[in-house]
Amino acid sequence: MLKHSYTLLAPLYDRLVARATEPMRRRSLARLGEVQGRRILLTGVGSGLDLPHLPEGAHYTGLDLTPAMLRRAQRRVPLNRHVDLVEGNAMALPFPDEHFDTVIMHLILAVVPEPADALREAARVLKPGGRVLILDKFLRPGQLAPLRRLLNPFLRRLATRTDVVFEHLLPLAPSLRVMADEPAVPGGWFRHIELHKRL
Ligand SMILES: C[S@@+](CC[C@H](N)C(=O)[O-])C[C@H]1O[C@@H](n2cnc3c(N)ncnc32)[C@H](O)[C@@H]1O
Repeated sequence: MLKHSYTLLAPLYDRLVARATEPMRRRSLARLGEVQGRRILLTGVGSGLDLPHLPEGAHYTGLDLTPAMLRRAQRRVPLNRHVDLVEGNAMALPFPDEHFDTVIMHLILAVVPEPADALREAARVLKPGGRVLILDKFLRPGQLAPLRRLLNPFLRRLATRTDVVFEHLLPLAPSLRVMADEPAVPGGWFRHIELHKRL
C-alpha cells in the first residue's frame, strides 16, 4: 500500500517536504563527522533529499521500497559521492549482519507499519560501536495527541504513522542505547535521536 502511495507522491514529495526539512537534515547529518572509508546506509532514502548534504569519503547505500522514489534519488547523487541505490524493505534489510558503520533513518521509522522491525534491522546490520541517526516525529509516552491519533488510521496507509512512541521501540532493539535525543522543532514532535550499538 505504501509503495503505491509513495509512487503517486513521488512527483510531489520534494515540493511538500524539501524546504521544511532542510535545516533538520543538515543538523542531523552534521553528526556524521569524519566519514572517510566508512560504510553508511540511508534506510528509506526516498527522493534523495539527504544526498546533496552527505560528506565526501564514505561508501553510501540508499535503500527504499519505492522505485519511483529511487529514480528521483538517482538524479540527486552528487558527482563525487559513491552512492549505491537499492530497492528493498527497511523491515527486512538485504544486507549481512554488522556491515555498516552508520545507519541514517530520516523520516522512515514513523512511516513503516512495524517500526520496531525497522529499528531491529538497523541494529542487526550495524557494526558494534556503530551509530543510528534518526530524524522523525514521535509521540512521548502517555502523550494524548488526540488529533494525531485520530488521523493515524488514515495517514498510516497513505504516507506516515502519527502515533509512534519512540520509547516503546527502543527496548525491542536492546543492543542500542540513546546517546542524544533533542527536539528538531519547537514542541518536540520531530526529534533528532542518536543511538549507539554496544561494543
Ligand atoms: C517520508 S519518506 C522519507 C524519505 C527520505 N528519508 C527523506 O528524509 O526525505 C518515506 C520513504 O520511505 C519509503 N518506504 C516506505 N515503506 C518502506 C519500507 N518498508 N522499506 C523501505 N522504504 C520504505 C517510501 O517509499 C518513502 O520514500
